[in-house]
Amino acid sequence: MTADDDALFQAAHRARANAHAPYSGFPVGAALRSASGEIFAGCNVENAAYPEGCCAETGAIAAMVAAGQRSIAAVLVLADSPDPVTPCGGCRQRLAEFAGPSLSVFLAGPEGVRECTTLGALLPGAFARTHLARG
Ligand code: THU
Repeated sequence: MTADDDALFQAAHRARANAHAPYSGFPVGAALRSASGEIFAGCNVENAAYPEGCCAETGAIAAMVAAGQRSIAAVLVLADSPDPVTPCGGCRQRLAEFAGPSLSVFLAGPEGVRECTTLGALLPGAFARTHLARG
């Protein structure tokens, strides 16, 4: 793991400590590095009306966009599970809005990064703005 990856891990770890996950009991932290090198983090925020909850990745992406940035260079997801936790389907699509298939996706547990994959591996054939063109 590089120093850059460690900064992502630390940011996700801090965010995860603030997760609001009283219903699932499954706190998640996410951190992404934007193209400018800045790090944005998020945690899952659940709701008594269950479908209104949102994922850690969604929060991190929203923070990046609110800061005026539109390009993700790397993302890390941190959760405590026997298997490395991957972004959910919806968050894969949200990541694809701001990154290409080569995006590095680090999957981490509390002890550190367990696996590195790519957005292209997680979401082949992503729907994209190019599909919105009319024939
Ligand atoms: N969750 C995330 O925040 N990110 C993921 O990548 C997987 C799932 C959250 C959603 C929900 O609050 C809890 O984990 C259980 O699904």
